[in-house]
Amino acid sequence: QELQINLEQIEKGGYDHFMLKEIYEQPSAISDTYRGRMRVAEGIIKMAGIDDNLAKLLNAKRIIIIACGTSWHAGLVAEYIFEELVRIPVEVEYASEFRYRNPVIHADDVVIAISQSGETADTMAAIKLAKENRAFVFGVCNVVGSSISRETHAGAYTHAGPEIGVASTKAFTTQITVLALIALKLAERKGTISNSSFHYYLQELERIPEKVKAALESNEHIKYIADTYKNAKNFLYLGRGYNFPVALEGALKLKEISYIHAEGYPAAEMKHGPIALIDEQMPVVVIATKKGHYEKVVSNIQEIKSRKGKIIGIVTEGDVTVKELADHVIEIPETEEFLTPLLTTIPLQLLSYHIAVMLDKNVDQPRNLAKSVTVE
Ligand code: G6P
Repeated sequence: QELQINLEQIEKGGYDHFMLKEIYEQPSAISDTYRGRMRVAEGIIKMAGIDDNLAKLLNAKRIIIIACGTSWHAGLVAEYIFEELVRIPVEVEYASEFRYRNPVIHADDVVIAISQSGETADTMAAIKLAKENRAFVFGVCNVVGSSISRETHAGAYTHAGPEIGVASTKAFTTQITVLALIALKLAERKGTISNSSFHYYLQELERIPEKVKAALESNEHIKYIADTYKNAKNFLYLGRGYNFPVALEGALKLKEISYIHAEGYPAAEMKHGPIALIDEQMPVVVIATKKGHYEKVVSNIQEIKSRKGKIIGIVTEGDVTVKELADHVIEIPETEEFLTPLLTTIPLQLLSYHIAVMLDKNVDQPRNLAKSVTVE
């Protein structure tokens, strides 16, 4: 028993929980994921799974992304990245919905299945269905040799290392990293982005781990915010564009480990419902980074403020406007818009972590949840 406890202590590497350790591992997990694939000086991305199937991928009429949970959120981010950079239409589906609704699948569709564990039963069944319909299926998994990585025609691993905390953190950011690499490679080949943008984006991706480190430096401030709102019964998370899926992911993290009801919404949809919920009891986390339709988000913030909601803004370093309106702001470094989810996610992970710890919840093994869902 004692040996077991000590072993776990060692595995946690000095952190109180696996989740916190994994949040802090993200700078290295992200660089492990692009290392060896992205050669910035030469302006090359080499990925065997992509290089060997380049024609199929470039000629895809459509990309269908299937996943569950947090991986589905990474799929949503990828939808925005692929459509913007590669100009191929993308659909993102919950694997469980896709498999049961007689979907239209063509032989020239590319299906991308995203799964940390590589064992999720619904995702596996959706892959089989896609293969029966002769689509090319590409896997993005973290666990090497997992069922999904074996069942797919080709794939690219995330190199996040083992993720123990049930609530996914580093798997999410490394999934986005791999998907961004794939999009960049295809965009360069297709000519949908200029050569100079391609080079610039590689340099910017290479700077992300340092910027994640900078984002992690807000930890103490986030702890203070967590303490202020830990007894709230509901939370709202808002974001637009690339940060809409991040709002969903932020809300999911809070639900999973603190058991506080939270909803993520596209900021503009607030007026179609969630605004009715806003009063002085409602903390609203608004992702309001400089490039993501900033002015529009600022006007959403004004609407929340006039209804006395409590505003926690996730902003770009040096922001002034939101700082004046919000009750709290958490700064993240500036980056290219399509890479912002890699940074805006970080404070949301820490916020849910600290709230759960303060409420004395089992952070690494939340009730009713499993790390890998192999039942249907
Ligand atoms: C479970 C986990 C989530 C995960 C989801 C999908 O619900 O608790 O963290 O996002 O499954 O898992 P996968 O391994 O397919 O990414």
